[in-house]
Amino acid sequence: MLNNAQHWNDAYNDADTTQLGWYQKEHAVSMDLISSCDGKKIIDVGAGATTLVDTLLSNDYDVTVLDVSSEALRILSKRHGTNMQYIQGDLANELKLGVFDIWHDRAVLHFLLKESERKSYVANLESCIESGGYAVIETFSTDGEQMCCGLDLHTYDEQMLTDLLGDNWVLVDSIRHTHINPFGGERPYVSTIFKRN
Ligand SMILES: C[S@@+](CC[C@H](N)C(=O)[O-])C[C@H]1O[C@@H](n2cnc3c(N)ncnc32)[C@H](O)[C@@H]1O
Repeated sequence: MLNNAQHWNDAYNDADTTQLGWYQKEHAVSMDLISSCDGKKIIDVGAGATTLVDTLLSNDYDVTVLDVSSEALRILSKRHGTNMQYIQGDLANELKLGVFDIWHDRAVLHFLLKESERKSYVANLESCIESGGYAVIETFSTDGEQMCCGLDLHTYDEQMLTDLLGDNWVLVDSIRHTHINPFGGERPYVSTIFKRN
């Protein structure tokens, strides 16, 4: 069986990234949520090959991207070179990441199926977002698809995300919306902002 990094490298290797199920041309929901947070220093975790970072850079954000896939990071670094920082790492392990104003995750948390992996995810989040900082977390919602990219998902609603993050965090906003994938499939999302106490 492929390990997680190999699985994702295969997904990105030689791919037309506009044909990946999670590809989106515009990032209206993500940008609405991110721009309502204070601060410009952002880490986009599970960034993949997203063009969200292009929009962030052109809006003067200081961008760090993290992904388990070296292939995804290669695609991004080909596009952006030294204009942003790159971290290869697995959120299921505890990592040293630095300090940021905003954590952004679109579609990676829901791949963490084991409780121990989710605990590491929260530990990583808390290691790099201090009091007053934000977590913008976007996942497949419980009423939608339960698989993506050939992998099972642990999907969420607002209460499940609130319970996962625990007492250090307050839910300040949440949007339900549907991503239409490149093949016309509907993928309901829950997109949230949490602020750290
Ligand atoms: C569905 S894609 C979403 C990509 C991007 N956020 C977007 O919205 O286009 C999930 C991404 O998470 C990355 N990923 C999966 N598991 C991960 C993990 N445990 N740690 C870090 N990144 C991971 C994958 O390599 C992939 O790029």
